[in-house]
Amino acid sequence: MSQNTDDALIKAKNLTKKYRDFTAVDSINFGISNGECFGLLGPNGAGKTTTIKMIQCVLPLTAGALMVAGMDVTKRSREIKAMIGIAPQEDNLDPDFTVVYNLVVYARYFDIPKTESLARAGQLLKFMQLEEKRDVLIGNLSSGMKRRVILMRALINQPQILILDEPTTGLDPQARHLIWDKIKRLKKQGVTIVLTTHYMEEAAHLCDRMLIMDNGKIIEEGNPETLVKKHVGEEVLEVAYDEKVMDYLKSSFPEAKLEIVNDRIQVFSSQPRGLFTEILDKFSFKGAILRNANLEDTFLKLTGRRLRE
Ligand SMILES: Nc1ncnc2c1ncn2[C@@H]1O[C@H](COP(=O)(O)OP(=O)(O)OP(=O)(O)O)[C@@H](O)[C@H]1O
Ligand SMILES: [Mg+2]
Repeated sequence: MSQNTDDALIKAKNLTKKYRDFTAVDSINFGISNGECFGLLGPNGAGKTTTIKMIQCVLPLTAGALMVAGMDVTKRSREIKAMIGIAPQEDNLDPDFTVVYNLVVYARYFDIPKTESLARAGQLLKFMQLEEKRDVLIGNLSSGMKRRVILMRALINQPQILILDEPTTGLDPQARHLIWDKIKRLKKQGVTIVLTTHYMEEAAHLCDRMLIMDNGKIIEEGNPETLVKKHVGEEVLEVAYDEKVMDYLKSSFPEAKLEIVNDRIQVFSSQPRGLFTEILDKFSFKGAILRNANLEDTFLKLTGRRLRE
């Protein structure tokens, strides 16, 4: 574990969650520092939401320890809940209430007086650019707008820690960029952010550090750029699928790892540039490109391409 784990704002030690005899989170260790944006990545069923629910103090641990701001989640859940804002993966807004009423009702859990919660709701409606939907029933919002209301609700108690479980799933590019912008603003204000996402571009863009989970275990941890360099390198060669090229690559560059994705061959090699030139020389066709390696390459390399149930 990193050295600063001791003064981490959120700290997990051998954190374990079992649902009957199924282990969803398998003795994981991590530390999240104050003020960072920390990503939890992993295929469906990896254990991300389970981990998050334990941080939120809504799911009991099976074993291990979990501390938030020096407080044990099993003992001081009330205080921890007060400092956390949560945007859950599932939409759990009340469809029969208006936007503003959803916010005000939620604020009651934190004993925020109504005049204050109305004032905060007004600011949040502005922040999330949804002022014109203030008095609209949740049931009459689009799903992207509901995600924005969920984010507003997460902010009503002015949390020090913001937990976002797939905040931009199903959003259009405009709404996604708006949320990225807001997340970055909150981070600048000093809010610690824990984020799960299946959008690798989002994780690369927002996260200072991340861990990649699979089957309840942590398989890698670090800064996105460093992880890409470590596991994939700087660049990836992509060639339109062609049997002759495939044979040539296999026989002449046995060190290169080849993946066929749709109708293209992805070539992972320590010498992508040299390979690129050779392919162009030898096969003089236009279907080859050299592109930057990215977090998606890294994620697929570490977690495989097999679909998760
Ligand atoms: N209440 C439950 N009872 C039994 N098993 C559960 C329960 N909740 C989650 N699981 C199982 O625990 C594992 C981890 O689930 P979790 O929701 O934490 O995954 P995730 O990483 O958030 O996945 P996704 O990307 O699909 O949201 C899955 O195999 C899931 O089926
Ligand atoms: Mg989940």
